[in-house]
Amino acid sequence: MAARGTGLLRSLLSRCSSPGPGLARCASSLPPPGAWSSLARLPHRDLYRLSVTDPDRFWGSAAADRLRWEEPFHRVRDCDLRAGKIRWFLGGKINVSVNCLDVNVEKHPDRVALIWERDEPGTEVKVTYRELLETTCRLANALKSRGIQKGDRVAVYMPVSPLAVAAMLACARIGAVHTVVFAGFSAEALAGRIQDAQCKAVVTFNQGVRGGRLLELKATVDAAVKRCPTVQHVFVAQRTETPAVMGPLDVPLEEVMSCQPPRCPPEPLDSEAMLFLLYTSGSTGFPKGLVHSQAGYLLYASLTHQYVFDHQDGDVFGCMADVGWITGHSYVVYGPLSNGATTVLFESTPVYPDPGRYWETVQRLSISQFYAAPTALRLLLKYDQSFVKKYDRSSLRTLGSVGEPINHEAWHWFHSVVGDGRCPLVDTWWQTETGGVCIAPRPAEDGAAIVPAMAMRPFFGIQPELMGEKGERLAGNGVGGALCISQPWPGMARGIYGDQQRFLDAYFKPYPGCYFTGDGALRSQDGFYQITGRMDDVINVSGHRLGTAEIEDVLDEHPEVPESAVIGFPHEIKGEVPFAFVVLKDYSSSSSSSSSSVVVLQQLRELVSTKIARYAVPEHFLVVKRLPKTRSGKIMRRILRKVAMGTTGDLGDVSTLDDPSVVDEVIEAHEQHRKRQEGEKKESSSSPSL
Ligand code: WTA
Repeated sequence: MAARGTGLLRSLLSRCSSPGPGLARCASSLPPPGAWSSLARLPHRDLYRLSVTDPDRFWGSAAADRLRWEEPFHRVRDCDLRAGKIRWFLGGKINVSVNCLDVNVEKHPDRVALIWERDEPGTEVKVTYRELLETTCRLANALKSRGIQKGDRVAVYMPVSPLAVAAMLACARIGAVHTVVFAGFSAEALAGRIQDAQCKAVVTFNQGVRGGRLLELKATVDAAVKRCPTVQHVFVAQRTETPAVMGPLDVPLEEVMSCQPPRCPPEPLDSEAMLFLLYTSGSTGFPKGLVHSQAGYLLYASLTHQYVFDHQDGDVFGCMADVGWITGHSYVVYGPLSNGATTVLFESTPVYPDPGRYWETVQRLSISQFYAAPTALRLLLKYDQSFVKKYDRSSLRTLGSVGEPINHEAWHWFHSVVGDGRCPLVDTWWQTETGGVCIAPRPAEDGAAIVPAMAMRPFFGIQPELMGEKGERLAGNGVGGALCISQPWPGMARGIYGDQQRFLDAYFKPYPGCYFTGDGALRSQDGFYQITGRMDDVINVSGHRLGTAEIEDVLDEHPEVPESAVIGFPHEIKGEVPFAFVVLKDYSSSSSSSSSSVVVLQQLRELVSTKIARYAVPEHFLVVKRLPKTRSGKIMRRILRKVAMGTTGDLGDVSTLDDPSVVDEVIEAHEQHRKRQEGEKKESSSSPSL
């Protein structure tokens, strides 16, 4: 097998590796039909090598043979990372919903596409591919009946559910652009995204249900759309019995869908047309609306889903993420459906009704791949192992983790307690911007070892580079630096909606010729990658990205707060939490404990919760008189981090500080704060428990 594969690779490469005109000719010609099936038989090492030495052949074959095209593409790619130009499968026309639905309905109409694992255990709902196609078409026709057209933006403010998936696919069917907003975001955060994307419609539920609690989704949408003049229609579906109060913009979704035909012709779309926008936090300002395209994104989601998780026909894929995040887009919806999988839509929480929920679900739904966030694992491992062990987990074949670094304790617990030590556990590193997994232990050679808590190996077509402080490329192993990717791949974001300059500045300017991830990484002695965390002012709270600047903007809106600085502070379960240093106008009466500042701090908590979301509320506040700044006025967060951690013994270079005495003030304020907290703790432990 290996010998045959190597021979095949040699013959493929020999047609392409001659320098000069031969290479140019090969790069522009398209691979012959059916080439992918021979490539897919190559040993992993050879296929990876081919993917980076001849990306046109690799991606061209994969796209031509794995996707259904309305019109074939005539050029595999036209990319220039220096200019942020990324175009794949030029000239092709495609419809993503056809690739996720119609193709599967032709092959296995009655296969279950979705299992909606509703909040109430044991009430799951199964939706076949035929049913999902019909629902999607009815929803697409409902959108069309209200004037939604190709290119229009539609906000989806719904927790994971068959109708949320159908809304995404309905947009894809008619060429509208969906922007799913996580249903935990506040009205203001939702309004900001709707305004930025200039959405014409919103799709929502009357209410949401999570962990036994109700979420007032329609009321939040009502508050948001008041400020959004572009919104012409709000489609409201019913998740609970409670009827929604309907206003002039509101359209009862199920009622309108029931009058629509169950067929809707798919719109043929350019490969590079926008498929969706997804807002994510950056280190500055308002979250950015990352643009993903049709063909390249779909191909990348599909290939990574199959190879990283070892997807096989008949598998039940269990990704616990919500559709409001990129993980939900790529590994709840587009990846699994494009591969004809049965995908689980998990509406609940890991601890509802008890900490055995995940594993009871694995048993009841016979889940094959289980993909979750480290924050949930860190929480669950605190409970007795019997919550895991009492359920049958023999259906599991691959375990995966995503969204933040996984610590060793969580990795080992997941691997040995949940997986009984028999399932490969893949720590997958990727980002909203990358569209799909870029570094993960699988795929690899058969039986290749997995190093615990390490993302390890680049996926096909991904060429990681580590850069040093002066922007130099760090060669060899045993080095650490800024993680960049030096070759384009089809799944990468194409831009920031409405702000191409910001796209260039954030990702392509820092290291010309490369995509800069914002993360740091090490390359081990064995050549494997270990992610070390963000290098910018983005923090990761329970696997959710947050820009510290976003929180500061909200804090600074309070009339009593002239300025603030937020940093990430370690937390046992959440990974990181925001720690806010706030300057109050009337400092004379303020310390974190004075009654006036207690009131202000409570108002600040509420402000962050209503302007962004509950999870963004700082866990710690420290009132200070001034913030340490450089002479040019930039806040030195590095120093604040050391103060918060209590590691002020080594403050590093402070020569650029405008006034070094500020540092002593902040240290003193922190010291007093710490003592007060200790005092409070002692008091509460000595008072009799009620
Ligand atoms: C972090 C989530 C370490 C990283 C898919 C990245 C990780 C950011 C890992 C993207 C991992 C994600 N190990 N860190 N396996 N996966 N991250 O856009 O800092 O929500 O830049 O995408 O999460 O978060 P995003």
